[in-house]
Amino acid sequence: MANLNNNTERDQWGSKVGFILAAAGSAVGLGNLWRFPVTAGQNGGGAFVLVYFAILILVGFTLMMAELVLGRHTQLNALGAYKKIRNNWAWVGGLGVLAGFLILSFYSVIGGWVINYMFKAITGAFTTSDPEFLGGMFGAFISNPVEPLFYHAIFMILTLGIVIGGVKGGIEKYAKILMPALFVMMVLTMLRSVTLPGAMEGIKFLLVPDFSMITGAVLLSALGQVFFSLSLGMGAMITYGSYLSKDANIPQSSFIIPLVDTGIALLAGLAILPAVFSFGFDPAEGPGLLFVTLPAVFSQMPLGGLFGFVFFLLVLFAALTSSISLLEVCVAYVVDEWNMTRKKATIGLAAVIFLLGIPSSLGIGVWSHISPFRGLDILDSVDFIASNVLMPVGGFLLCIFIGWVWGLENAIKEATNEGTIPFKLAGFWSFMIKWVAPIAIAVVFVQGILS
Ligand code: PHE
Repeated sequence: MANLNNNTERDQWGSKVGFILAAAGSAVGLGNLWRFPVTAGQNGGGAFVLVYFAILILVGFTLMMAELVLGRHTQLNALGAYKKIRNNWAWVGGLGVLAGFLILSFYSVIGGWVINYMFKAITGAFTTSDPEFLGGMFGAFISNPVEPLFYHAIFMILTLGIVIGGVKGGIEKYAKILMPALFVMMVLTMLRSVTLPGAMEGIKFLLVPDFSMITGAVLLSALGQVFFSLSLGMGAMITYGSYLSKDANIPQSSFIIPLVDTGIALLAGLAILPAVFSFGFDPAEGPGLLFVTLPAVFSQMPLGGLFGFVFFLLVLFAALTSSISLLEVCVAYVVDEWNMTRKKATIGLAAVIFLLGIPSSLGIGVWSHISPFRGLDILDSVDFIASNVLMPVGGFLLCIFIGWVWGLENAIKEATNEGTIPFKLAGFWSFMIKWVAPIAIAVVFVQGILS
């Protein structure tokens, strides 16, 4: 008797979850697991997290919906979407493609570290919680001129393989199992971490804001982190929105995806920072935080090596569901604008992006004396330009485009499926996209750049 009902319900639920998983897959990745704890650690912990939340609320939800609406309406890639509505806005989409190109170049380097750490875990390298030893092991690996490049190549080949096979195909199927699995592993790791002796210090560091720490630099870091973590400001969500069916509930998805993303980031913070304090690491130590701290936590768990292996395997999966969306943004552009076949475009781009990532990797070791920008090494410089400059600028222009050029009436019509689904916050969202979000981005950006 309930058969028919069950079927219909399962079908609807299935398609909705399928999209949310794909979009959440793009959002959840190294940004949450690696970049969030690192950036929080370097920017005063609680102060950073507080600003992060403020920007998430003022900007994050609003822009998520704007990108999905624009993508579904035009059914096109980042550049094409702008171009279809206003020809002379195409370059904004182009900025996004450039950001994706730059991000993927160093993202793949870090993704390679994850693959290496999978092997380290399973071969029993995590036997001690000694900061010196674990820091030394990590330092030796990433500063080696050759080994990380090998793993960088493997990560890029995996990304390329999935994108050639079609982003929409298999990923959803695996995401349904692997994303919840990652969540469970993160909760277990977090529980181990917060029950370590002295963990309370780390929890306080992350959750209790010291207002005196809020500077222009902290504001800009939080802004960049919101964009990076939610995959906003460069057209990834435009591209994914273009795969959405006409009956999907965009307002609801725009609410759920940022929530899931932030939840995972906080979990990562709570898995890493308490252990940092417990074992006597330095919270501001930088890119190694994930790779140095978690092995220490795993060493304190039964079957820690196996646990660590599964954990890094799931991190790799999360990273791949993000890297494919980065590559997809670039591929869609080249296929449309340069009339290239999809296969050629994917292979060509992956090769160029791989080469571009090499300096980021070398900049940590043999080229560590090179600092292109603000005293940062090469990887952090590329990250800064993409996340703290290109994405916020792209996000600002998106607000102007939707609020002032394309028009709110059109956007709301698309968001509510021509008025067929309820969207009580339509008026609020309109106000946010037209005024609050662009002003917030502009103020934070200017403060941060001048600081
Ligand atoms: N949001 C992804 C992460 O947190 C990275 C990403 C940025 C993916 C921009 C797509 C576009 O890992």
